[in-house]
Amino acid sequence: MIIAVDGPAASGKGTIARALAREYGLPHLDTGKLYRAVGLSVRRAGGDPADPAVAERHAQALDPALLDEPDLMSSANAESASIVSAHPGVRAVLLDRQRAFAAQPGGAVLDGRDIGTVIAPHAHAKLFVTASPEERARRRHAELARAGDTRDLLSVLADIAARDARDSNRAAAPLHRADDAALLDTTELAIDAAVQRAIALVAAATLRN
Ligand code: DC
Repeated sequence: MIIAVDGPAASGKGTIARALAREYGLPHLDTGKLYRAVGLSVRRAGGDPADPAVAERHAQALDPALLDEPDLMSSANAESASIVSAHPGVRAVLLDRQRAFAAQPGGAVLDGRDIGTVIAPHAHAKLFVTASPEERARRRHAELARAGDTRDLLSVLADIAARDARDSNRAAAPLHRADDAALLDTTELAIDAAVQRAIALVAAATLRN
C-alpha cells in the first residue's frame, strides 16, 4: 500500500505521515529532507540556491550524511530548500530515488508537496493536509521557541506566506491537491484528533481503491 501525504509547511503532514507509517507498519520518507539536503549542500559550499546549474550539481552529488544534520531543519535552510526545489533539474534528479522508495514491496508512506500528483499518482490513499497560515505560523513559532529561537510570530508568518507562494506558484510540480486526494484541514484539530481523522480517511480510500 502506498500512502501519499502532501501539504504546505507546518500543516501537520509530517506528524500525520509518521503516525500512518506506524499504524500500517510501513517505511516512511520525508521528501522535504531531500530538498533540504540539496539546499544545505549549496549553502555550505557558498553557492547560490537560485542558480539552477549549481543546485542540480549538488543534487547529483548529494551526500546522504547531510540528511542527519541538525541544520537541515533550520528556517534559513527551509528557505534554501524551497528555492532549490523550484528547479526542474533538481526535481528530476530526486525523482527516481523517491519513486524507488514508493515501489518497495509492501508499500510506503511518503510526505511532501507533489507525492500524490507526480511521485506516486497511483497511490492507494492520498491526503492533502492543510491549516490556515496563521495557525501554521503559531505552530512553527511554538516549535522554534521550544528550540530556543526567539523569532517573533509575524516574521514566522511572513516566512510561511513566502514559502507557500513559492511552492505553489512554481512551474515544476507545484503544491496543489490531487483531484483524488482527501482534504484534511487541521486548523481546529489537536494533533491526536488529526491523526485519528487521517487514519479514517486512509481506511476509506483503501476500501474504495
Ligand atoms: O516539507 P519541508 O518544509 O521540509 O520542505 C522543504 C521545501 O522542499 C519546501 O518548501 C518545498 C520543497 N519540497 C518540494 O518541493 N517537494 C516535496 N515533495 C517536498 C518538499
